[in-house]
Amino acid sequence: MDQKKQEKVIIFDTTLRDGEQAPGASMNQSEKLDIAYALEKMGVDIIEAGFPVISPGDFDSVKMVAKHIKNSTVCGLARCVPKDIDAAYEALKDARRARIHVFIASSRIHMEYKLKKNPEEVLAMAIDSVKRARGKIEDIEFSAEDATRSEKDFLYKLIEEAIKSGARTVNIPDTVGYIMPAEYGQLIQGIINNVPNINKAVVSVHCHNDLGLGVANSLSAIKNGARQVECTINGIGERAGNASMEEIIMALRTRADYYGCGTNIETKEICRISRLVSKYTGFAVAPNKAIVGLNAFRHEAGIHQDGVLKERTTYEIMRPEDVGFFETGLILGKHSGRHAFKERLKILGVELKDEELNKAFERFKNVADKKKEVYDEDLIAIVEDEVKVFDKVWTLAKLSSKTATNTKPKVEAVLKAKGKVYKKTGTGDGPVDACYKAIESIVKMKGELLDYSIHSVTHGQDALGEVTIKVKLNGKTIVAHGTSTDILEASAKAYINAINKLLALEIAK
Ligand code: KIV
Ligand code: ZN
Repeated sequence: MDQKKQEKVIIFDTTLRDGEQAPGASMNQSEKLDIAYALEKMGVDIIEAGFPVISPGDFDSVKMVAKHIKNSTVCGLARCVPKDIDAAYEALKDARRARIHVFIASSRIHMEYKLKKNPEEVLAMAIDSVKRARGKIEDIEFSAEDATRSEKDFLYKLIEEAIKSGARTVNIPDTVGYIMPAEYGQLIQGIINNVPNINKAVVSVHCHNDLGLGVANSLSAIKNGARQVECTINGIGERAGNASMEEIIMALRTRADYYGCGTNIETKEICRISRLVSKYTGFAVAPNKAIVGLNAFRHEAGIHQDGVLKERTTYEIMRPEDVGFFETGLILGKHSGRHAFKERLKILGVELKDEELNKAFERFKNVADKKKEVYDEDLIAIVEDEVKVFDKVWTLAKLSSKTATNTKPKVEAVLKAKGKVYKKTGTGDGPVDACYKAIESIVKMKGELLDYSIHSVTHGQDALGEVTIKVKLNGKTIVAHGTSTDILEASAKAYINAINKLLALEIAK
C-alpha cells in the first residue's frame, strides 16, 4: 500500500494509567519514567501517564513524565469534577504538549447506580468540565464511560455538547468489554453520521478485553472511521485488560491493504518495550501471545519449517525483525571478549556506560563459566539483573544449603553491604523459604511473599532461570527479579533486589 495514501491513526497509550489499574501491576516512579521514555522512543502520539487526583503518587508520576517527555503529548485523566481537572492541570502544566482527559459515565446503569444522577445532570457536568479544562489547556479529550451500553440519542447529544464545549477528541469506550466487532463498527458510523459537529473532533476508541475482543473491536472501529485508538503494551489493564497496542499496530501494518491506515510507530521497538513492561509489572507474557510471545515466530512442525526455509512468506505474515524479535542464537561463550560482548549488546539495542559495562561483563564471565552457550536472552537478563538505576546496598556473596528428606531445609546466606560481610542461617518449609529467612535476619526486615514464579530464560539443562517475586516490604509491594543457573541463587537475588529497591525508594523520599 502506498504510504502516502494512508490515513494516520493516533496511538494513545494508557499502559501507565489503565494498564497500571490491573490488579498487582503497580510500578514505581522510575519504572514509569523508563516506560514513558520507551513509548516516546517508539513514536507513541499520546501517553496517558496517570490519574493525578487519585493519589499523591499518581500526581507526582504524571508531573515527572510531563517534565521529561518532549515528543509525545502527555495526558492526565480527570472525572467531571473541578478538583480532578485542577489536579490534572497542576500535574501537566510543565509539559511541552499536554492533554486533559475528562470522563463521565453515560449508560443508564452507571448514571443511576454509580453516579446517582439523571441524564440532564450528567450532560451539565460534562459541559462544565470540558469548558473548565479547555480554559486551562487547548487539548481536551472527552470520554463517555460505558458508551457501548448507553442510549444512542443521549450519547450523540453528549458528544455534540462536549465538542461544542471545546473537546477535540471524543472517546467511545467499551468500558466493560461488552460489544461485538460489527456492532461497534456500526456505533462508530452512527456517531459519525448523527453528531452534527463530529468533523471538529477525532473519534477515539478504548476497548476492554472481557470477551477477548479488545483488539478486534478497536480494528472494527478504525475500519469505520475512528482515528485514535487507546491501548496498552501487552494488553495489560483492568480485569481482562485493554486492547493490546502491539497487536493493533501490526494488524494495521500487515493489513494496510484492508485498513488503509498507518501509525507513526517504530515497530522494531515493540519487543523491547513489551519485555520492559512485563519485567516492571511482573506479568509474564504468554509464549503464544501474538506478536511478542516467545513462540510468536517459532515454527515447530516439520512441514512449516521446510516451507519457511524454501520461502519465508509461506508461513510468516510478518518479519520477526520488524517487531524487534530476535531469535535465540548461539552467540557468545567463555572465550568471548569484552569487545564482542559490547558489540552484541549494541545489536540488541543496549548501550551501557563504562562502569555498567564492567559490571555486566563480569557477570557474563561468571555465567559463561557455568554455561557453555550464552544466548541473546541470557545477555538481556544479565544486563537487566546487573545494571540498575539505583546503587545496590546489599549483594549476595555466597549461599549454601542443606536439604534432606524429612528434615527442614537449612540455608546459610552470606551478604555484603558497604564492605562488611554478614552471615546468617535460616530454616523453613522449603529451601527458598529457608533462604529468605536467612536474608531477612541479616537485613532485619520481614517481608510477605505475595507471588513467586520462575521461568527459564533460554533452553537446556544449564539455562539461566529467572525468578520473579512480588513481595510486601515495609507496607510497599515490590516486584523484583533475579537470574542464575541455580534456582536458589536466582531466588535469593530476586529477594535482595526487592530489598535494594525498597531502600532506593526510601532514600529517594
Ligand atoms: O474503560 C474506560 O471507560 C476508561 C475511561 C476512563 C476512558 O478507562
Ligand atoms: Zn478503560
